[in-house]
Amino acid sequence: MSTRSRPADHDRGSRPVISRARAATSAPWPPRTALVTGASSGIGRAAALRLAHEDTRVLLVGRNGTALDEVAAATGGHRFAIDLAVTGAEHAVASRAAELLGDIDLLVCSAGVGAAGPFEMMSPSALRDLVTVNVLSPMMLVRAVLPRMLERGEGRILLVGSVAGAVGVRGEVAYSASKAALIGFADALRSEVAGRGVVVTLCLPGAVDTPFFRRRGAPYVRRWPKPLPAGLVADRMLTAVAHGEPEVWVPGWMSLAARVHGLAPPIYRRLASVFG
Ligand SMILES: NC(=O)c1ccc[n+]([C@@H]2O[C@H](COP(=O)([O-])OP(=O)(O)OC[C@H]3O[C@@H](n4cnc5c(N)ncnc54)[C@H](OP(=O)(O)O)[C@@H]3O)[C@@H](O)[C@H]2O)c1
Repeated sequence: MSTRSRPADHDRGSRPVISRARAATSAPWPPRTALVTGASSGIGRAAALRLAHEDTRVLLVGRNGTALDEVAAATGGHRFAIDLAVTGAEHAVASRAAELLGDIDLLVCSAGVGAAGPFEMMSPSALRDLVTVNVLSPMMLVRAVLPRMLERGEGRILLVGSVAGAVGVRGEVAYSASKAALIGFADALRSEVAGRGVVVTLCLPGAVDTPFFRRRGAPYVRRWPKPLPAGLVADRMLTAVAHGEPEVWVPGWMSLAARVHGLAPPIYRRLASVFG
């Protein structure tokens, strides 16, 4: 177990970023408490393991009780098995967190599902579930914990989006749209709570080596870029949160695609028609 450290002790401690982070929130780093969704697998699991290593008390949220038990044993955290697609789940999660942890210093919204294949073939129920888990559930959960964070004047929110939300990927229409919604949510929320002690960080990963692809029913087939380890993504996104950064792309060069998309849409569309 490590001792508590300030952002300056983390690996990306450039001065301007740190002073902005200090000005943006007084929430401690490492956080004393964290609520992590998607903690039973992949990126959320890796984030929970890292937070526990920093002595953060975590509430692990997912559906798979056996997987949560394994992460709980490794982290010493509490676990809460619940389907976030069910109406009212966010209230159940928020009240369990309040009961077990008290105030939440960090909310990590990593739970998410993918979908691949032609949009016209997607079943309406799968579409509804995807939007519920990827968009509505993080918004509802933030809605549930934000008032107390604002009342305390401190807190950190980490939303796990995707590069697919910034550029739109063919064959992943619903997924791209859901992650685009998260970008709009993060931008608007960050702007709205600015100066009130709560910081919002959006992580935009490219391909990550997790059960995500298997679970969506379509493997990752591109030769390049290679999927990154979940632990690396967790490290990068938590470092960004520590520094109060608004967003972090993993890998960083992927932000280039979004810049081309914004600055030169026709060029972007030509490239996308070739590379997908
Ligand atoms: N892997 C990638 O290439 C990639 C790339 C960019 C962004 N992302 C995003 O990263 C996040 C984490 O994905 P991952 O790669 O770690 O995938 P993963 O290994 O499949 O993990 C997904 C997590 O979400 C949870 N979850 C899904 N539906 C849920 C529901 N209805 N209720 C409660 N929990 C639910 C799962 O819980 P259970 O297993 O317990 O059901 C699991 O813990 C997602 O938001 C994903 O969109 C992934």
